[in-house]
Amino acid sequence: MVTPPLRQAGWTSRHLRHVAGIFRQDQNPAARVYESIGSNCFLAPAPGWLNLGLWEGSGSEEEADTACCRLVQTVAAALPEAGVVLDVGNGLGTQDPVIVKVLRPRKLIAVNITEWQLSIGRDRLREAAALGVAGDATRLPIADQTIDGVISVEAAFHFRSRRAFFDKCFRVLKPGGVLSISDISTERLPLGPLELLAAITQIRVFGLRPSAAMTADQIAEAVRGRLHGCGRHRVRRSGNRPGPSADRVQAPGNAGRARGARWAANCRSPPAQPG
Ligand SMILES: C[S@@+](CC[C@H](N)C(=O)[O-])C[C@H]1O[C@@H](n2cnc3c(N)ncnc32)[C@H](O)[C@@H]1O
Repeated sequence: MVTPPLRQAGWTSRHLRHVAGIFRQDQNPAARVYESIGSNCFLAPAPGWLNLGLWEGSGSEEEADTACCRLVQTVAAALPEAGVVLDVGNGLGTQDPVIVKVLRPRKLIAVNITEWQLSIGRDRLREAAALGVAGDATRLPIADQTIDGVISVEAAFHFRSRRAFFDKCFRVLKPGGVLSISDISTERLPLGPLELLAAITQIRVFGLRPSAAMTADQIAEAVRGRLHGCGRHRVRRSGNRPGPSADRVQAPGNAGRARGARWAANCRSPPAQPG
């Protein structure tokens, strides 16, 4: 049997450097991961998408594109229309024209730590008339109280700290602004050595920190912690789907009185295990 050289199999020294980067877990592991998996990754449910989707059907492949798009539409729908919208962790940019269709924002800014994705997604950013900004969600290079709505679709599990991200959202949101996110939660510890191995592999391959493992309730609690003193909020669990389940946290009270008083978060769980 002749083994094809790595180059022939589509591997280059750049890929090998990225794999090494993933396992070294450097300063910016998420960017290394997304540079390495590129724009045509077998892990993507549908071309151009890197979220797990919001499914209504049986979970067949034909629904994948619609499910990924539906997730973005659903998360975006909680934000105010015609305002300044900040999209954090915009992936390949496929979601930005979708956000524009839903919200008709006055301005759309997309922040992504993976500069390569901003560059490969520039046509979609142009289509959405969005401004791409290279930056970290836990630092947010955005001025205070300038944003009407923050959207983040399945990116927060990568962030150094979700609480730091919520703090920064609170800083950049105008009074009455809304945060709407979907996220990947971890609902239980691994059962047995195989699940443990799978969990460790996932953490390493996706460049995650062990602290990223939070249940949907803990994520909701972290949002609530930031909302403390800012009025009422509401948590609603929308149940299991062939794709992940979703929780919604909303603080409709005091809109306009306290900074960032209206927030919504979709906190998503991993897909239900078959059987
Ligand atoms: C799972 S992908 C989701 C992409 C996109 N939202 C979608 O639904 O297709 C996670 C995204 O978050 C970005 N990301 C990860 N860590 C980040 C950080 N600290 N700050 C900003 N973006 C980050 C990644 O570069 C990637 O684009």
